Amino acid sequence: MTSDSQDSRKEFFSKIASQYDKYAIERLGYEAHIKVPAKLLELRNKREGLVLDLACGTGLGSLLFFESGFDVIGIDFSPGMIEVARSHPYKQHYCQSIEEELPVEDRSFDIVTAIGVWEFVEDPPRLLEKIWEKLIDGGLCGLTIPKQSDAENELGIHTYSPERFIQFVDKRRFDIVDEIDFYGWESGHLGEVLGETGLPHHRIDYHALFLRKHK
Ligand SMILES: C[S@@+](CC[C@H](N)C(=O)[O-])C[C@H]1O[C@@H](n2cnc3c(N)ncnc32)[C@H](O)[C@@H]1O
Repeated sequence: MTSDSQDSRKEFFSKIASQYDKYAIERLGYEAHIKVPAKLLELRNKREGLVLDLACGTGLGSLLFFESGFDVIGIDFSPGMIEVARSHPYKQHYCQSIEEELPVEDRSFDIVTAIGVWEFVEDPPRLLEKIWEKLIDGGLCGLTIPKQSDAENELGIHTYSPERFIQFVDKRRFDIVDEIDFYGWESGHLGEVLGETGLPHHRIDYHALFLRKHK
């Protein structure tokens, strides 16, 4: 992605930040922020630890972890989204790209999440490698693969067949411990929030992957 398109993406998310939670949940029926953390809590029976929420946005995907007694560090490159996230009890948040060097310690997180962001990630194998570096041995990762769609060209995002994405996962480093499918989001309604008409309508479904770092 060019730095221009990175900038316009940051701008886009900053523009919708104040309406994101209401819009995502009520209008889009977005559920990834519940489905992924709920499965991770089920896979990890201990109710404490440190979570890294990559592309935390306004903080929706961290809420179940706060409620369950975890400490959470959030990273997102959109200043507007991070501004909203400040209303949540993050241990720390950073405003930067998750594809740059991450300002957190290696081998220190029980859980890493990256929810609703792989549409925009330029180098998935590299990001998976960084996630591996940040997890403790036996730590868990939950992520949402946007399933293959012709939205790829029209919306300028990345989508994958789950089989293709799974090839990015280094099986010597991670076990795949669970996989679930659910609805992701739809693009047509975005026009309402942005005041734009004629935005092409696409539905994105998610294939969520749950990985455990080898001991
Ligand atoms: C659809 S929102 C998902 C937010 C949150 N994870 C959730 O589930 O509600 C996508 C988020 O990814 C962030 N994002 C996209 N590309 C990013 C990157 N390279 N680095 C950091 N954040 C990024 C955007 O700013 C936005 O907050």
